[in-house]
Amino acid sequence: MTERRLCGSLRPGDSGTAVTCYGWVHHRRDHGGLTFVDLRDHSGVVQVVINAEAAPPLREVAQRVRLEFVLRVRGSVRPRPAGSENPQLPTGAVELVAEEAEVLAAAETPPFVIGDPRPVDEQVRLRYRYLDLRRERLQRNLRARHRFLMALRAEADRLGFVEVETPTLVPSTPEGARDFLVPSRLIPGTAWALPQSPQLYKQLCMVGGLDRYMQIARCWRDEDLRADRQFEFTQLDVEMAFVDEEDVFAALEQLIGAAWGAAFGRALPRPWPRISYREALERYGSDKPDTRFGHELVTVTDVFAATGLRVFADAVAAGGAVRALRIPAGERPTRRELDGPWREAAVTHGAAGLAYLWRWADGWEGPIARHLSATELAGLGQRTGAEAGDCVCLTAGPAAVAGAALGAVRLLAARELGWIDGEVEHFLWVTEFPMFEPEPSGGVRPLHHPFTQVHADDWGKLESDPLAVRSRAYDIVCNGVEMGSGSIRITRPEQQGAIFRALGMTEAEAQSKFGFLLSAFRHGAPPHGGFAAGIDRLVMVGLREPSIREVIAFPKTQTGADPMTGAPTAVTADQLREVGLALRPEVTAVRAAAADAGAGG
Ligand code: AMO
Repeated sequence: MTERRLCGSLRPGDSGTAVTCYGWVHHRRDHGGLTFVDLRDHSGVVQVVINAEAAPPLREVAQRVRLEFVLRVRGSVRPRPAGSENPQLPTGAVELVAEEAEVLAAAETPPFVIGDPRPVDEQVRLRYRYLDLRRERLQRNLRARHRFLMALRAEADRLGFVEVETPTLVPSTPEGARDFLVPSRLIPGTAWALPQSPQLYKQLCMVGGLDRYMQIARCWRDEDLRADRQFEFTQLDVEMAFVDEEDVFAALEQLIGAAWGAAFGRALPRPWPRISYREALERYGSDKPDTRFGHELVTVTDVFAATGLRVFADAVAAGGAVRALRIPAGERPTRRELDGPWREAAVTHGAAGLAYLWRWADGWEGPIARHLSATELAGLGQRTGAEAGDCVCLTAGPAAVAGAALGAVRLLAARELGWIDGEVEHFLWVTEFPMFEPEPSGGVRPLHHPFTQVHADDWGKLESDPLAVRSRAYDIVCNGVEMGSGSIRITRPEQQGAIFRALGMTEAEAQSKFGFLLSAFRHGAPPHGGFAAGIDRLVMVGLREPSIREVIAFPKTQTGADPMTGAPTAVTADQLREVGLALRPEVTAVRAAAADAGAGG
């Protein structure tokens, strides 16, 4: 038996040794009586040489193999002939001279060449994900994700956390998204939900005396998919007893910092900056500000208090705001860009439009310039610090809309004008989130979740002015992406009851949905708080990938399907009957039409 070696591990020092390598055919070429096969495994590629004078079985293998055949090769390592070394390849100074080779598996022509770095259509990649996984990008990403998880667990253990597995068949938990339901067979007409997060179970672990809980937890949410959203995703879920915000912040910075170093080899400077929700909206027009660059928004409402420009005047009269963003002098943005994608960014976020003007040494220029008084223009110049050649963009409307719209323009400007240093990550805490947000149908709903503790000074406003109530919720944001959320929790039954009431729940509803929690709180609940960080998002940002699909082995497409397995698939009448369900006629019709069109699952 020769020693098994990984393809990518062979070096000049191995010359003269006999080894066996296993791998896939990465590349094959015939050359003057010699066949060269690049053999690849997860560690890299090595050049195998098969001599035309070799024994017939070996020659036969050399002729037969095609891309992605699986081979076992036994041979001896030797330095490559002078001048034929490949300095691009870690194994490029040596080759493996085959003495014996065996085809362990044949392969059909692959839909894309594994070693070709050119982009492949994502639908095709996901359909043949098992081939996509062979490529360098996913090998690197999944291994980095593995190191990230290993380091998280090790650091959590070191800090005294205990990993507890919580159930995946649960009652519906209110995290704000739609549940995935699992119909119950034994109790027809009822359903489990897949957890949107282990929120209530981890709190019950605190009541259960676990002190510090953690879990690498799979969560499910039936929501529209985006680059940073999947139906199922993974959280680093944490809960701690007898803590305040400082303890939670310190633990999370420590955990994520350790994993970041282990997976990406970069240190995250601590402590991470903090900004209140209010200040984040004020300065960046977003509660997940991208702080890799400055270019902050400026509020100029007062400058236009008596303006003759209709859109600004209307906003001011309605108690809204006028916000400004200075774009330093440059060739761009052009008018065409401003009226096109830049305006579009503002409008998508609810603004009526995007106003803009340029400052020059001798005055202001732009569609709205002549509608503004000299005092207003002077005020705008002074507040934004605009200098000759700078462009100033403005939005007006309800304060939240004007800010969000200009915040979106700021992000677009950053991408278009190269303000972002792609080599850094800016972690920060956003604190003091409001407890509630308006419910579109009237009333309020929790901004985080209803188990979040209210800011000590704000309990008095719960009934009179719920939207002004601050919570003890906090987020981690990095490079403009929400990485995680948490809060200090309510642990007194009467306080929890007050929140349920503020949300419009009757006593009976609160009892039927959360009676178990209220009961637990009456049995000696330690004060506690916690956090959940999105592992997929953290690894995505750490690897500088544009989507979490690049860091998940088998993700769904943006449209929520799996092109590899064809799931989700149709359910049979028998399966439905067993769980006491029937399809509505219009659904049956849609399924039949899909099946006719050959698109049925
Ligand atoms: P929250 O709902 O904010 O908080 O979720 C925490 C983090 O989970 C990640 N995340 C997602 N990642 C990928 N795809 C999704 N569909 C998705 N949804 C959420 C995000 C998000 O910041 N139980 C609370 C936490 C707590 O209070 O302790 C919770 O789940 O990174």
